[in-house]
Amino acid sequence: MAVAASATHEHWSSRAAFIFAAVGSAVGLGNIWKFPYEAGQGGGGAFVLIYLVFVFGIGVPVMIAELSLGRRGQMSPPNSVKKVAIDEGRSPAWQAIGWFGVIGAFLVLSFYSVIAGFALSYMTNTFLGNLSVLDGQASASHFGALTGNFWLVLFWHALFISLTIFVVARGVTKGLEKAVTWLMPALFCLLVFLVVYSLIFGAGAEAVRFLFEPDFSKVTGRVVLEALGQAFFSLSLALGTMLIYGCYLPRDISIPRSALVVASADTGVALLAGLAIFPIVFAYGLEAGQGPGLVFVTLPIAFAQMPGGVIIGGMFFLLLSIAALTSSISLLEPMVSWLEEHKAVDRLKSAILGGGLVFMVGLGSVLSFNHWSDITLFGRTFLGNLDFLTNNIIMPVGGFLIVVFVGWRVSRASMRDELHTISDRQFNIWRAMARYVCPLALLAIFYSVLS
Ligand code: TRP
Repeated sequence: MAVAASATHEHWSSRAAFIFAAVGSAVGLGNIWKFPYEAGQGGGGAFVLIYLVFVFGIGVPVMIAELSLGRRGQMSPPNSVKKVAIDEGRSPAWQAIGWFGVIGAFLVLSFYSVIAGFALSYMTNTFLGNLSVLDGQASASHFGALTGNFWLVLFWHALFISLTIFVVARGVTKGLEKAVTWLMPALFCLLVFLVVYSLIFGAGAEAVRFLFEPDFSKVTGRVVLEALGQAFFSLSLALGTMLIYGCYLPRDISIPRSALVVASADTGVALLAGLAIFPIVFAYGLEAGQGPGLVFVTLPIAFAQMPGGVIIGGMFFLLLSIAALTSSISLLEPMVSWLEEHKAVDRLKSAILGGGLVFMVGLGSVLSFNHWSDITLFGRTFLGNLDFLTNNIIMPVGGFLIVVFVGWRVSRASMRDELHTISDRQFNIWRAMARYVCPLALLAIFYSVLS
């Protein structure tokens, strides 16, 4: 099969552009929708603490490994890994890492788009003033009315995936970069405002205690695995996103520094989201462990009470939709880059083809909220199973393969060459993490869940 020359892929125009794009990918529904409800279900403080350890102890070294691998390969995820494997005299079968990514990202995007559609719907309804819910019950029934309506959910899913296709079709510098440069800072500022509001007018003290006082009696093997999956999910790891964003990365940019910046910004946003949501949860007697509806059920209550809530609430859901968009483009990109290389089809056609397939598989997730809500396998809906499969199996196993490959199969000299901006000592620390700490920690976690 003919593979187009590596020069066909564009590069980011500057370090800032890459950082914005990588932060844009990392910050998304994972931080604002998923992190708070997972922390709520995992019992609060202990989950948060374990999560933080995973982000910096495992997530950052894996991100460094993944970005380096992508930059070295200079192609779409499967071809990048294959090329590096061959260059290093290893089996081309290692390209499985890239396939895990392309397929896993595809599956994640299929349900990600459905949830992002909810954000679009909430944005519209808030701006239109249709969402003046004054208590938990009214809010929950609004959420139920949206999710229970198959055609509505389908409509917003279709709209969101179309937006994703549109941005991806425009390419790296025109599409991806432009979208993220000013939107991320705006989201951050609005979030800080919401935190201040919630802490003052909601049950701030209780929320802070809930999020930061660890109660380890709630921690089980499953909670630990969930925290690991969430760390990978939130940092956009192991699904080809960082491989392909690394491929677009100019050589003079420091990967370790970038990874630290991305992880810190991502974690900051997740914690802020928790601090915005939980004061309202406790002030209104809502259920902290209620699951995926949490952000949609809590924040509208605060927006209904605050002066200017229509604008502030509408802005919040607008920025959430945009944060989701800068993540969804990074989930479509691995597949589109591969299609571009192999089928010799242009970006536009690749984006439509990939996005169209995602839309179809997403139908299963749309149905999970209404007609199929009672149909379960292993006690989970279609969407629940996709989420479990990607978060708890594909991502951790993919991350394991990445560190084993980069740590043990790629030569020290090649990696030193990729990570040329740091000192020898820093490099040795990273390498020890990638070779020993990360694989062993991941094995220990798998073992504790399976036994
Ligand atoms: N990190 C994004 C979020 O938190 C989602 C995402 C984008 C992702 N690309 C990814 C998750 C790659 C896993 C792998 O919303």
